[in-house]
Amino acid sequence: MYASEIVAVGMAVPDRIVTNDDLSKLMDTNDEWITQRSGIRERRWVDAQTTTSDLALRAAERAIAAAGIKKEDIELIVMATLSPDHDFPGTGCFLQAKLGLAGCATLDIRQACSGFLYGLSVADQFIKTGMYKTVLLVGAEVHSKGLDVSTRGRDVAVLFGDGAGAAILKRTDATNSSRVLSTHLHAEGAHAQELWLPGPGMNLGAERVSRAMLDEGLIYPKMNGKKVFAHAIRRMAEVLMEGLAANNTKLEDIDLFLFHQANLRINEMLAQELKIPPEKVFNTIHKYGNTTAATIPIGMSEAVAAGKLKKGMLVASAAFGSGFTWASALYRW
Ligand code: ACO
Repeated sequence: MYASEIVAVGMAVPDRIVTNDDLSKLMDTNDEWITQRSGIRERRWVDAQTTTSDLALRAAERAIAAAGIKKEDIELIVMATLSPDHDFPGTGCFLQAKLGLAGCATLDIRQACSGFLYGLSVADQFIKTGMYKTVLLVGAEVHSKGLDVSTRGRDVAVLFGDGAGAAILKRTDATNSSRVLSTHLHAEGAHAQELWLPGPGMNLGAERVSRAMLDEGLIYPKMNGKKVFAHAIRRMAEVLMEGLAANNTKLEDIDLFLFHQANLRINEMLAQELKIPPEKVFNTIHKYGNTTAATIPIGMSEAVAAGKLKKGMLVASAAFGSGFTWASALYRW
């Protein structure tokens, strides 16, 4: 019987720091509004030349080096992003080429903020069935090029940042204590338009992209913030408890919680509701904003670097996002 172990992680963020004050020069917003409602103080933005696969490459190279594997050992690249280099092919293909690899399988995951946990589940299943021994899993986003940074888009634009995180998963024996214990995945497509990117798209009339679409700002993400907020807390709590129950584990047994970073208030309310001590929740949102598919592997990387995530620890992750989709994972580091 096989299981998968997360043997190493890596992350990459652009050098350019964009503070809340910087944003207030572009749109009608201010540091107090953003900090109070989201906990975000700054985020990173790429330069004009950098793409999602570039950030993914940097994170992947760091994870590969930390794992001490040869890149040729990778049999599958699972790439989670909602900000692909191009509509097709998947960003995993561009990443594979930039890594100098050919032949291994690539698979893109489009489950937005739940993308990394969906990807973790996919990687875990491929390893458990014996199909692959080594998988590269990446979550990466370049949001800054796709945000409406005028006052019209301020409710969304202030929340998101650019970044990437990567993990190497390797086959291990199912009796190894360090392993992915379980993943749980859900979606409710009836809410797809509560947090989405309307255009360009095939569902907007005769043309995939039109001048009217650009003028109306349909090429920018739209969000029903209050609805997302309420559903996020409910669904993350539910799916976290589902994971614990499946493993006959209690909340007190968890050493560290690495939640998706959408909004500090979501994670604070979640912890409060479940009576999780705040010191067990590792947050990075104040520095990076919401990097969507990258938040959890960035959290893993920073927690390892800070000495907060150590070998043998029992970790729980949960995420919620566009779709709506939500997911959890329980793993021993
Ligand atoms: N700066 C200043 N004012 C703003 C801004 C801004 N950046 N954005 C909106 N406002 C204004 C609105 O125009 C509105 O003004 P009005 O009352 O005059 O119409 C007012 O602020 C709304 O304020 P609140 O009702 O207090 O807003 P709310 O408490 O709902 O907070 C927020 C908004 C932060 C977006 C909240 O709803 C939220 O965090 N939702 C969850 C969002 C989220 O986490 N999304 C991502 C998760 S999913 C994913 O990761 C893909």
